[in-house]
This record gives sequence, structure tokens and C-alpha cells, in this order.
Amino acid sequence: AAEITASTPPMGWSSWNHFAEHVTAAEIRATADAMVSSGMRDAGYVYVNIDDGWQGGRNPDGSIRPNAGFPDMRALADYVHARGLKLGIYSSPGRHTCAGYTGSLGHEQQDAASYAAWGVDYLKYDLCSYIQDVMQPQAPHDMGRQMALMHQAYQRMRVALDRQSRPIIYALCQYGWGAPWQWATRPDVDGQLWRTTSDIEPDWDRIYAIAESQDGLADYAGPGHWNDPDMLEVGNGHLSDAENRAHFSWWAMLAAPLIAGNDLRHMSLKVRDILTLSAVIAIDQDPLGRPATRTYADGQVEVWSRPLADGDRAVAIFNIGSARYASAPWSLDLKRLDLHGPQEATDLWSGRRYTLVQGMPLQLARHDVLLLRLHHPH
Ligand code: GLA
Repeated sequence: AAEITASTPPMGWSSWNHFAEHVTAAEIRATADAMVSSGMRDAGYVYVNIDDGWQGGRNPDGSIRPNAGFPDMRALADYVHARGLKLGIYSSPGRHTCAGYTGSLGHEQQDAASYAAWGVDYLKYDLCSYIQDVMQPQAPHDMGRQMALMHQAYQRMRVALDRQSRPIIYALCQYGWGAPWQWATRPDVDGQLWRTTSDIEPDWDRIYAIAESQDGLADYAGPGHWNDPDMLEVGNGHLSDAENRAHFSWWAMLAAPLIAGNDLRHMSLKVRDILTLSAVIAIDQDPLGRPATRTYADGQVEVWSRPLADGDRAVAIFNIGSARYASAPWSLDLKRLDLHGPQEATDLWSGRRYTLVQGMPLQLARHDVLLLRLHHPH
């Protein structure tokens, strides 16, 4: 089997959050172009992922056929690769995918071989109808047996991927059901990432609820294997600048895969600047790979922190509620972070460096974040 590495969380883009199943090769090409021209590629984004909606049934020999929107997958992969990027694809172990397209059930080997022949570098494998097609009929009311059948599905595709001569990132998707963080890294499954939650939406309450639910999963992630709290909604819906910043900061703190989900062809400069800020991306991609945990909460304010490879510490302070702290200054309790004495800090969103002292008033607008890198005294 070819060597697979995801030593830091995968970065890229996926079609789902903006296009849903209304996606064709034309959008994928334009997105690859935009990834280069926007500076996202240079900021570290690599994968251009086709999510659900590319499939068009099977050929007489059983091999998977893309639909009319994807006339030539091989040429599409070449186009993406020529720009220094990688191509991702999507399937389900069931008969159908979540949006009702052709799934891989009974065709796992053939499908893996097709992906490899096309030049695919990343597979998101989404449980979907496998629940109704296999798990429930074969083991009604038997949760233990249903779990075993789910493992089998992911093992089967692992075997198929291992037979290919290309490294293909294996992204497990079953919405956190069955605690995938406990088994996704077993050698017979070997997923590089696994979804930890049901689907994200471009809505602060949903983003915040997902982030909250990640506290407690930090021990399961590390270089090569990552919790996936779902793809980014930065730039989608009606998220405010503050919400986009806070969402991106939170995913970076969690060492989450940074898979953008907005329309890269038409994003505002503001959104581009959020997605490409290298100081924040560096938190996500820190080689130690240790996700943040919630250090403490104080009313509407939450403080999360994570250690970094060079001895620095990332601290994110979120104003999660509707209160406006601009009129009621708040201060960080350094002691609760186990820090004693003044700290050299960089505010990563403004680039400002200053000395943080106990009791120093901090302004934090609604749904905004203060993301600090505390410098280890050398
Ligand atoms: C599920 C997944 C989403 C997306 C859709 C596609 O809902 O969780 O991320 O892939 O299926 O149909």
C-alpha cells in the first residue's frame, strides 16, 4: 500500500456547503483556479473535493460512471494536479449516497480502482443508506451487531484503497455515530479523519454547538488522525465578520481539517483574508497536533487553549452570547491558565504584540474572538 500521511490536519475545499449536489466539473476547475489566484493554495489549502452529486450509475461491467456534469474525471484530476492541488471524491458504503446518488455497496474494489485510475487523492466515505440497506435489516434492534457491520463497511473500503498504488486520504463520515474516534485509527480501518458531529450549517448557533461538543475529544487526535467537526461555513449564509473569524479560530484551535465550503470564485476580500491568515493557519497546522480544550467559562465568555510545538501556547477567548462586552470589559484570569506573571502575547487577528497582565481589560464584541499566541520565554 502507498504511504498515506496527514501529519497535520488536511486543508482544502469541498463542494457541498455551497453547491450541494448542483456541481459540475466546470465549478471544480474554476474553484481550483480560484484557489490559486486567491492565495489559498499558497496559504496551505491542497484538496479540491467533489462531494455528493457526481455519480451517474454504473457501466455494464459494474464500474462507476460519473454523470454528464463530469465527462472526464481523469482530465479533471489532471487539471487540478497541474495547479499543484489534489482531487477528492465522495461515496457511501450503502446502495445510495445521502443525496440519493449511486453508492459503492458491492462495488468497493471497482470503485477504489476507478478513483485511483482517475488520480483521486482523497475519499470521503459517508455512511448514509448503509444504515437502511445493511445495518438495520441484518441486525434489527442489535446495536452491537450494527456497530460491527459499520466497521466492516469501513474495513472493506480500507482493503480496497490499500490495493491501489496511490495514497488516498480516507475521511470517515458517520456524523459521530458510534464514537468513530474510538475505532477509526485501528489499522484495519486507518481513517485519517472522522466526522464527530451531524452536519454543520452557516448559522452561529449551529457552529457554536458543534464547537462545544468537541471538548473531550482532544485525546483522540494527533499527527495522522484528526477529529472532523465538519467543513467550514466561513463566507456562507449571513455570518458576520466576527462570526466568520470566531468559527475559523475555533476550528484552528481544535486542529480540525480546514476544508473551506464557500464559493471561492466570488468571495469577498474580507472572507479571503480570514481563510488565508497564516498566523491562524499555523495554530491549526501546529506540528504537535494537540487540539484545544476548554480551560474555563465565565458567563458568556469561554477560554480555550492548546499547547504548541515550540513551547508557545494558543489561547482563544470567545464571546459566545449576545451580551456586548464592549461596554463591560472582561479580563483574562491568567492563573486559571496556570500562568504566573506577565505574558508576551501576539493578537493573531490584528498582529499586535503586547504584554498581557493579570486584570488587563479586554474588549470582545458579540460572537467575536480574541486569538492570542502566548510566547514561551526563551
Ligand atoms: C451527509 C454529509 C454531508 C454531505 C452530504 C451529501 O449529510 O454529512 O457532509 O456529504 O451527506 O449528501
